[in-house]
Amino acid sequence: MPWFKKIGIAGAAVLFSWNPEYSLDIAQVDEEHSKLIQMMKKLELADTRRDRVKIVKGVIGEIEEYCRVHFSNEEDLMRRSGYPQLEAHRQAHVQFRKKVEDLKLFAAFNAAEIHQILLEWLVEHILKTDRDYVPYVRKYLAEHPEQVISTTAP
Ligand SMILES: [Fe+2]
Repeated sequence: MPWFKKIGIAGAAVLFSWNPEYSLDIAQVDEEHSKLIQMMKKLELADTRRDRVKIVKGVIGEIEEYCRVHFSNEEDLMRRSGYPQLEAHRQAHVQFRKKVEDLKLFAAFNAAEIHQILLEWLVEHILKTDRDYVPYVRKYLAEHPEQVISTTAP
């Protein structure tokens, strides 16, 4: 199945910011990552708005909340598939959530820069840290097809 079909209807809205290189070929995870990228993209547009600080705080709050859900789903998949580096990965998630929280203090600054900081972390995390669990999770999902979940974004 082509990657763009796996990211769901909501994914169609992020075709411009989603790069096929980010795909881990795990539908649930790809969909959640594309949703995060889509949320982060809203920051890019905030700088032109009069109520930008409010928008930036709101978007960071949304990202914070969705990271909680996504990281928990990812950690659950890693745990079920017996991924040996779960603890180190969990730590990377904890640090990122702390970074997102800290960025709220900078909401009055350049939103495009905040967008860049978040996007760079996420992309690097997907391409390096997440990529490492892929063989374990794919094997687990192939052996437990009933566990394949598609989280269609609201
Ligand atoms: Fe991760």
